[in-house]
Amino acid sequence: MSDKVILAYSGGLDTSVAIKWLEEKYSLRVVTLTVDIGNVPDLEAIRQKALKVGAVKALVVDAKETFIKSFVFPALQADAVYEGQYPLATALGRPLIARLLVETARKERARVIAHGCTGKGNDQVRIDVGVAALAPELKVIAPAREWNMTREQTIEYALAHKIPVPVTRASPYSIDQNLWGRSNECGVLEDAWNEPPEDAFAWTKALNETPARPAYLEIGFEKGIPVGLGGRKLEPVALVQKVHDMAGRHGIGRIDHIENRLVGIKSREVYEAPAAVVLLKAHQALEDLVLAKEQLRFKAKVATEYADLIYNGLWFTSMRQDLAAYVESTQRYVTGTIRVKLFKGNCQIVGRKSPYSLYDFSLATYDKGDAFDQGASPGFIHIWGLPARTQAKVQPEPPE
Ligand code: ARG
Repeated sequence: MSDKVILAYSGGLDTSVAIKWLEEKYSLRVVTLTVDIGNVPDLEAIRQKALKVGAVKALVVDAKETFIKSFVFPALQADAVYEGQYPLATALGRPLIARLLVETARKERARVIAHGCTGKGNDQVRIDVGVAALAPELKVIAPAREWNMTREQTIEYALAHKIPVPVTRASPYSIDQNLWGRSNECGVLEDAWNEPPEDAFAWTKALNETPARPAYLEIGFEKGIPVGLGGRKLEPVALVQKVHDMAGRHGIGRIDHIENRLVGIKSREVYEAPAAVVLLKAHQALEDLVLAKEQLRFKAKVATEYADLIYNGLWFTSMRQDLAAYVESTQRYVTGTIRVKLFKGNCQIVGRKSPYSLYDFSLATYDKGDAFDQGASPGFIHIWGLPARTQAKVQPEPPE
């Protein structure tokens, strides 16, 4: 009997064509794996389509909770945002998909894994490197990287092989989405001068359609993990979904980013990440309250490293484990509540409290109850300014 391949299957045109193509070109029996990490449309329809096109088996896994707990929340604790803008939704999903592909290959005794990534993006790197790290014995095939078909040719191939092609004009965009965000590329967005048209957005309301009144949300954190809203405990997935809905309704989370891909291309990416934008901002606000100045500064450097590592497909590495251990340690007092105001595309921090707050009213106040010893300041300044005075004596400031 011919070998089996586990194909990461989204139900879209490319991965549907890949089912037939893998059969024809490599004589493989195709088992599809569709991973649900949130915001996937009709999973049963996707499964049926895989079987109809020719898969010998079509599997669907619900990995929403694992995604949030083991990938999204560690990134949130790290404040990982790529190039200061992209909360890494797609990038965080790929290592999980790679791991599930490997697990499925082992269960199904398959020796090959396939995915629909092209040769121009970051996703191929994330899946290939992930699989290689977890199961070096498996071979990876990326049909769309090999077949060299244009979109028109792919459609012709589909029609010739009786693969259903959407009757309505296919979306001009290339979209990837999960619980943490939605990535949108291609079409009119490729001209960096074009304002993204309203149809590029699906999760966030345009500002002229957002409510006339602000909404407030109290987000409770325990050790850097969001655990409740408005004083009510919530499971991770439900919590993220709830923040997503509220923030999206207020038009929060649109990001328009000229991004540096790992493969050397600059690309224009339009993201929607309502939950990520709100939770990252709230988490950072709580850290501002409970971490010392030096911790905050050092942690910000770690955040940049961590974000790059996630973006660059290096999740399954010792470096990731080491960064995660540092981040975990910083989170032991990141417990408290942050109040945010959601209004007209903005998420504003308007209140914060924590049993571990380092904000000391009696030190900060200018009113009565001031405990700060102002008499000690001249001595402190005398020593602090010593190097400046010493240098200025010998090396005076040049005139303007
Ligand atoms: N540029 C983003 C990233 O590398 C988004 C990629 C979207 N992927 C996709 N297959 N549409 O993470």
